[in-house]
Amino acid sequence: MREKLEILERRRAESELGGGAARLKAQHDKGKLSARERLDVLLDDGSFVELDRFVVHRSSDFGLDQQKFYGDGVVTGYGRIEGRLVYVFSQDFTVFGGSLSEAFAEKICKVMDLAVRNGAPVIGLNDSGGARIQEGVVSLGGYAEIFLRNTLASGVVPQISAILGPCAGGAVYSPAITDFVYMVRGSSYMFVTGPNVVKTVTHEDVSMDELGGADTHGGTSGVSHFTYDSELACLQAIRELFRFIPQNNVDDPPRGMGTDPRDRRDDGLLDVVPDNPNKPYDMHDVIRRVVDDGEMYEVQKDFAANILCGFAHLGGHSVGIVANQPAVLAGVLDINSSMKAARFIRFCDAFNIPIVTFEDVPGFLPGVGQEHGGIIKHGAKLLFAYCEATVPKLTVITRKAYGGAYDVMSSKHIRGDFNVAWPTAEIAVMGPKGAVEILFRKEITESADPKAAMDERVAEYTNKFANPYVAAARGYVDDIIDPRETRPRLIDALDTLRTKRDRNPPKKHGNIPL
Ligand code: HXC
Repeated sequence: MREKLEILERRRAESELGGGAARLKAQHDKGKLSARERLDVLLDDGSFVELDRFVVHRSSDFGLDQQKFYGDGVVTGYGRIEGRLVYVFSQDFTVFGGSLSEAFAEKICKVMDLAVRNGAPVIGLNDSGGARIQEGVVSLGGYAEIFLRNTLASGVVPQISAILGPCAGGAVYSPAITDFVYMVRGSSYMFVTGPNVVKTVTHEDVSMDELGGADTHGGTSGVSHFTYDSELACLQAIRELFRFIPQNNVDDPPRGMGTDPRDRRDDGLLDVVPDNPNKPYDMHDVIRRVVDDGEMYEVQKDFAANILCGFAHLGGHSVGIVANQPAVLAGVLDINSSMKAARFIRFCDAFNIPIVTFEDVPGFLPGVGQEHGGIIKHGAKLLFAYCEATVPKLTVITRKAYGGAYDVMSSKHIRGDFNVAWPTAEIAVMGPKGAVEILFRKEITESADPKAAMDERVAEYTNKFANPYVAAARGYVDDIIDPRETRPRLIDALDTLRTKRDRNPPKKHGNIPL
């Protein structure tokens, strides 16, 4: 027995060497952690349980039968984050560049199947040269098996991807299907084809970073959701996310542990919205003053900054915040902001996280670029996402709620559960000046003093429509509240909505305007 145990120990030790000391040094020299070191940072101390450490590839072409490494380039298993079960895979670049073989794919599929069966999130740490070239189509088949599982697990368990090295070709589509993509400046890359192919096909000169680095995907394409300066910060941030999200689609999200008083009124809220309705303000100020301990875990903060999305706790309830941002493009809805918020709302709805909307929106962005880019179908995504969401939906209108955007932003008509307005709210088809120019153009141009005529009509319209009372008279908002009461009122509503039951009609699935 002892002899056999020694063999086991030796093989275990060998399995932890990855592609060997030289390749590990090369990995460290690039400022990257090894696959196992990453799991050490991500998971609670000593909680990682490895599966399939003795798996090897079954290939013999191109001399591969002479090169076998235990684990075959991916470390898989399960562990804990703050005591909660998560399944993980961590690609090991030191073994065949982390490239995906048949055996490698089988290991990933095994942990994904376990995660779905046991109702636990999956976290994938990606660092790979893509398909194992020597295995050809077998590797492509392996990718497809993973894509299928990503799709079937979507909305059942949270799926999180960290890109910690290259992620190229079709390989990008697994992270793209997952719920959140984390990237690191200077070492993460995602692209369908790299700079060389781009140069050949389109004659464009572009660096790896510009084409598919962390800032490109965090700020321009919107492919990723979070950008960090180091792997350590990135992995710590993934741990933080677990303060807000549940284990699966039938679990409740975790309660916040903050000590912020539930009945806290914030006098500062009286001064956030400027008297001049055309002046911007930062919606972060409102959110910070309302949520527990002023903390929001912001999603895609560098992309479509005219809408804010993020997780927070309110009286301990985990919530998803969606907020127009008047400080950027006046908080208008455009293609990117619609897509950003729609995807976030669908995540919250799939995982039982109530949605709290802060609204100050002048409408949809006009323009040829927006129309030709499909603002109609992209705006419809946001509308569709809000309409189909059955989680508690709470809305606070701080200022403008104009036109179609009023309907879209979680209005009462699309099953808003708790809709309130501040006294500064303007709920109308459009702003006073625009409305008057359409309704009274002839009268104004023909008047002896067009400016005075215009001012008079604007004042009349403002008085009549640019306020919350017309909507309140019809019950389209449940109440008009003192801004200082926003926090206690939202918390009280969340308490009442804990037992909310709502369902959509049975169907195979809806047809969201993609
Ligand atoms: C097999 C690979 C590999 C691959 C890298 N290696 N990529 N082995 N299949 N795809 C091996 C190298 O031979 C080398 O082995 C080791 O990994 C490290 O690679 P280097 O090139 O030395 O590293 P580096 O200079 O850091 O460059 C990293 C890289 C480059 C940019 C990722 O290796 C690269 O371009 N690889 C090919 C990428 C690619 O075209 N893949 C296919 C994409 S298409 P040794 O023994 O020297 O350590 C695809 C389709 C997916 O993936 C489709 C899904 C549907």
